[in-house]
Amino acid sequence: MKYQSAVFFLALLQLNLCAGLIKQGEVCVANKACEQGLHCESCVGLLPHCTRYQPLNPFHKVKGLAFNRYSWLTTHNSFARIGTKSGTGSPLLTVMNQQDSVTDQLNNGVRGLMLDMYDFNDDIWLCHSFGGKCFNYTAFQPAVYVLIEVREFLENNPADIVTIIIKDYVTSPNGLTKVFDAAGIKRLWFPVSRMPPDGGEWPTVDDMVRQNQRLVVFTSKQAKESSEGIAYMWNYLVENKYGDAGMIDGSCLNRAESFPLNTSERSLVFMNYFPDAGNFAKACKYNSAPLINMVKTCSEASGRKWPNFIAVDFYKKSDGGGASEAVDMANGQQVCGCSSVGFCKDNVTFGTCEQPGGTPASSGAVKNATSSTERLGILIQVHLLLGILLA
Ligand SMILES: *[C@@H]1O[C@H](CO)[C@@H](O)[C@H](O)[C@H]1NC(C)=O
Ligand SMILES: *[C@@H]1O[C@H](CO)[C@@H](O)[C@H](O)[C@H]1NC(C)=O
Ligand SMILES: *[C@@H]1O[C@H](CO)[C@@H](O)[C@H](O)[C@H]1NC(C)=O
Ligand SMILES: *[C@@H]1O[C@H](CO)[C@@H](O)[C@H](O)[C@H]1NC(C)=O
Repeated sequence: MKYQSAVFFLALLQLNLCAGLIKQGEVCVANKACEQGLHCESCVGLLPHCTRYQPLNPFHKVKGLAFNRYSWLTTHNSFARIGTKSGTGSPLLTVMNQQDSVTDQLNNGVRGLMLDMYDFNDDIWLCHSFGGKCFNYTAFQPAVYVLIEVREFLENNPADIVTIIIKDYVTSPNGLTKVFDAAGIKRLWFPVSRMPPDGGEWPTVDDMVRQNQRLVVFTSKQAKESSEGIAYMWNYLVENKYGDAGMIDGSCLNRAESFPLNTSERSLVFMNYFPDAGNFAKACKYNSAPLINMVKTCSEASGRKWPNFIAVDFYKKSDGGGASEAVDMANGQQVCGCSSVGFCKDNVTFGTCEQPGGTPASSGAVKNATSSTERLGILIQVHLLLGILLA
């Protein structure tokens, strides 16, 4: 019996290996067994599956559209990484929202960063706090370090554009300007003067790349647009409610500071989808079907504009396509009218889609594979269990 189990198990393993790299939704044992852009992870209560953590680059399909015609994977509190200590040396007593560094996030296709900035220790720090004050046990690190990571990414990737959305508690005079200067990133700045007021079209991404204006920065402090030339976010985008209030199934309402989502006076749509307190265990569920549903709900609420920024906690966690699939869907709908940007035909702007099925990013193709491999996975598990019991 033991011998039979072992033979059967090896046969199954071989079947898996012969099939080449493992597709999205299929059972896996290691990251490197999964296809490009996927990793092997287990959501609570499931066997490890290959799940997507990297969205497709929409420029690779349809180039040259206006900036507001694309969608970007965005991390909420990008700096609040599990397992880090405060730069003050103190332990951090605050919620965490991400699992990897900003550099890793950018390399994985994240293009929007939500950063909370505070005056602290005679500098600007990334901090989670309350009452507008930062403390040793809520202070992550000086903001300049993360801005340097962004600069290095932009220098190494001359065709990419990154957006930073600052939750701004900085009151020191020219505090933000100084920290962006210190990071050497001001020369990549996309100027406010080129941002369209009243809902107009943005310059094309090609133009932004050509002029090397590849860093878009928004602040939540209105006065800084005229004083420091940093765009006041709600002059350019609409935004839904954040935290638990933004996660009510079927409901997508604007946050108080934003124009109504269906206004024609703002050209960008920013969508929050994360709970009040970062929750690593539940992120897998949140970033799966409920996120896709909310993207659709918010797109309806915004007068059929698809969100340009989709902001989540723990962006790598999901039971399949995750936040990347949500972004691929929004890009597909905007860029070519297809259900995923993976189905857009190269350089065709609208209306013709590749047949779902051939592309790795195909969500339709994945479903059938999942069920058959899930059965395979269960078989393996039963056999391992039998092996243990009989040993
Ligand atoms: C906060 O950390 C600094 C070191 O960066 C230390 O000098 C200071 O005493 C700490 N403050 C408190 C209240 O622990
Ligand atoms: C936006 O939605 C509200 C109600 O939800 C509606 O009264 C209004 O006419 C809409 N505005 C536009 C520009 O569609
Ligand atoms: C799409 O356009 C780019 C240049 O803009 C070109 O390099 C590429 O070959 C084109 N692809 C197709 C399928 O025409
Ligand atoms: C996948 O499953 C659906 C029903 O769930 C079925 O209609 C379709 O033919 C299947 N596709 C393949 C390639 O097996």
